[in-house]
Amino acid sequence: MAIVTSTEMFKKAYDGGYAIGAFNVNNMEIVQGIPDAAIELRAPHILKVSKGTRNYAKHVYLMKLIEAAVADAEQTAGFDLPIVVHLDHGDSFELCKSCIDGGFSSVMIDKSGLPFDENIAITKKVVEYAHDHGVVVEAELGTLAGVEDEVNVSAEDSSYTRPEDVQEFVERTGCDSLAIAIGTSHGAYKFTAAQCTRDPVTGKLVPPPLRFDILDEVAKRLPGFPIVLHGSSSVPQQFVDMINKYGGRMPDAVGIPEEQLRQAARGAVCKINIDSDLRLALTASIREHFAEHPDHFDPRQYLTPGRAAIKAMVAHKLVNVLGCDGKA
Ligand code: G3H
Ligand code: 13P
Ligand code: ZN
Repeated sequence: MAIVTSTEMFKKAYDGGYAIGAFNVNNMEIVQGIPDAAIELRAPHILKVSKGTRNYAKHVYLMKLIEAAVADAEQTAGFDLPIVVHLDHGDSFELCKSCIDGGFSSVMIDKSGLPFDENIAITKKVVEYAHDHGVVVEAELGTLAGVEDEVNVSAEDSSYTRPEDVQEFVERTGCDSLAIAIGTSHGAYKFTAAQCTRDPVTGKLVPPPLRFDILDEVAKRLPGFPIVLHGSSSVPQQFVDMINKYGGRMPDAVGIPEEQLRQAARGAVCKINIDSDLRLALTASIREHFAEHPDHFDPRQYLTPGRAAIKAMVAHKLVNVLGCDGKA
């Protein structure tokens, strides 16, 4: 088995009414925890790397870790488990080229903050280079709100995707998939209290619903074309509660309800991006571990349950949110 592109994965996902999970990887335990779940559930998946992660861990370490995961999956699973290696939010042609030259099978060029024609011009340049090298390209139209290391857009600067733009954008760029903005948002604090209502029983924020009308309109204009949702962590409240219980402070952290993501996955959405939920699962587990074992200082002691927490969280997503279990 080798690292594959997402072309066949997305076609099957589109036709089968499910989505592929795209999980951000930052270190060995995360790289291991995701395929651990995917092997057991026979789930194709995407491991993605951001610019910030590349700066943190170095391309060569990440690539070798992912290659090791692929080799391990082959031995452990005994069947072909398709894995895509993807650059998340590439912000320049040079970064995309470097990842293509360095063995990634998929890149995202995110110039959604630029005017339409400029976004098209740079996306087209990346597509030409990528396709010449057998690599697929995700592009973006519309701007998500939210804050990550390398992505920082205020709610006022965010904008929904305009369905009337998508056909021309895809035709002129030749991109292979398109990320759109329908109300998802990056990070663990996706919405302000003012954008939400509050559950009278739990006191937790209830986010505004996704704009399925925009998604439907996009799908109508791009029949059969794979759509991507970024900012799609659900911010499970059991992790937020654990973090807060064991010394953290994450008030009003809120995500996208799972049933809305499942609904999107049944339609044109073929790739769902998840990063914050991995961070929350790992951090909650480590905080709990230290609270219960204040004398521990061997990283293996707290990273072993941390990796298991990643695996369990991913397994839940594969079955209950993405619906891609048993599809490999
Ligand atoms: O959308 C961004 C991803 O969650 C990556 O975040 O830039 O902090 O690695 P990062
Ligand atoms: P979350 O912050 O919702 O996990 O989104 C991750 C993402 O979109 C990565 O590109
Ligand atoms: Zn993103």
